[in-house]
Amino acid sequence: MTTPVRPAGPDTIAHAAAILRGGGLVALPTETVYGLAANGLDPRAVAGIFAAKGRPADNPLILHVPDYAAVAGIVDAPPAIAGRLAEIFWPGPLTLVLRRSAKVPEIVSAGLETVAVRVPDHPVARAILRACGRPLAAPSANRSGRPSPTRAEHVLADLDGRIDLIVDGGPTAHGIESTVVDLSELDRGGPPLLLRQGAIAREALSAHLPGLVDGAAIAPERSPGLRHRHYAPRARLEIVDNGALAERARALAGEGRTVGVLAGGVDDEAPRDPEIAGVRWLAFDGGLEGYARGLFAGLRTLDALAVERILAAAPPEIGIGRALADRLRRAAAG
Ligand code: TXA
Ligand code: MG
Repeated sequence: MTTPVRPAGPDTIAHAAAILRGGGLVALPTETVYGLAANGLDPRAVAGIFAAKGRPADNPLILHVPDYAAVAGIVDAPPAIAGRLAEIFWPGPLTLVLRRSAKVPEIVSAGLETVAVRVPDHPVARAILRACGRPLAAPSANRSGRPSPTRAEHVLADLDGRIDLIVDGGPTAHGIESTVVDLSELDRGGPPLLLRQGAIAREALSAHLPGLVDGAAIAPERSPGLRHRHYAPRARLEIVDNGALAERARALAGEGRTVGVLAGGVDDEAPRDPEIAGVRWLAFDGGLEGYARGLFAGLRTLDALAVERILAAAPPEIGIGRALADRLRRAAAG
C-alpha cells in the first residue's frame, strides 16, 4: 500500500476532510512542521496516530482548532490569560495546556487531566479544520524518534503506507515546532510552565506572561514529552561555533571520517563551503530563522548520506535560538 501525496487545493481539502470525518489519518502542513491529523474526538482514529508513528502511549497530543471559540468545547474554565494569549499569538505556534473537559478522549491526553490546544497559522490546515468541523489531534508527522517533517517528502519517507493521505503545502515557514506552555495550575496558584521551547520565542511570551518558569526544572511530570527519546542522528553530533566549523571538519576528514556540516544561525549569510574532501557542507542563510527552517531537513539529508560525524553550528541562545539549541542538545545526546 502506498500513501497518495496531493497538492493542496480545494479538491484535496474536501477529500482530506472526508477522510478525517471517516476516522482516517491525514498528514497536513502547518506553519511549524507537518502534522499527522485525526479526528480528536474519536478515540479509535486517535489510536491510529499512535500506531502509525510508533508513539509511546503516555505522550499526549495537541488538539488543533480553528479559533479560540472552539477551545470552549474541549477545556474546562480556562484562565483569563489564556484568552489574552490567544488574542496575541493565535493563529500561531503557541500551544496552551489547559484542564480538559469530559469531551476529550483519554487517549488524546494520555490520561492527564489536561489537554494541549492551538490554532495553527496555515491556510491549508485552517481550511481542513473548517471543512471537517472537528478538533484535530495532530503530532508532528514523523515516525517516533525521527526529526519533525518540514516537507511532504519527509512525511512520505517516514509514513508511506501507514496513513491515508499526505497534503503537500510546500515547505513549512518556521521549521521548528510550537512553543508549549502549561496554564493548568494558575487558578490553584501555580506558575505558568514553559514545557517546550519553540517557534514563539520565550522573550516574546514572557512579555505577556509574567512569572513564566521552566517546566523541566520544577515539574518534569507535567511534560511527558521530555521523558521520551528524541531524534538522534546515527552519526555522532557535535555543536561547534560557526567560526570553528571548517577547522573541525578538516581535522575529522583528516582522520578519514566522512563529515556533514550544518552552518548558519548567526549572520544573514552562513559560512560558505570551504570544499574539504569528504565533507558535505550545508549552509543556511537568513540568520536564526533560516537555520530553523533548514535544520530538520538538513539532519535528514545527512542521515541519508550516512556521514560518520555531524557538526552543527551553535545557535546564539536568544529568541528561537533557544529552541534550536534545545533540539541540537537532544540530538547530540544520542
Ligand atoms: O508545532 C507543533 O506543535 C506541531 C504541529 C503539527 O502542530 N505538533 C507537534 O506535536 O509538535 P508533538 O506531538 O510532536 O509534540 C507535542 C508536545 C509533546 O512534547 C507533548 O508531550 C506535549 O506537546 N503535550 C501534549 N499534550 C500535553 C499535555 N496535556 N500536557 C503536557 N504536555 C503535552
Ligand atoms: Mg513530535
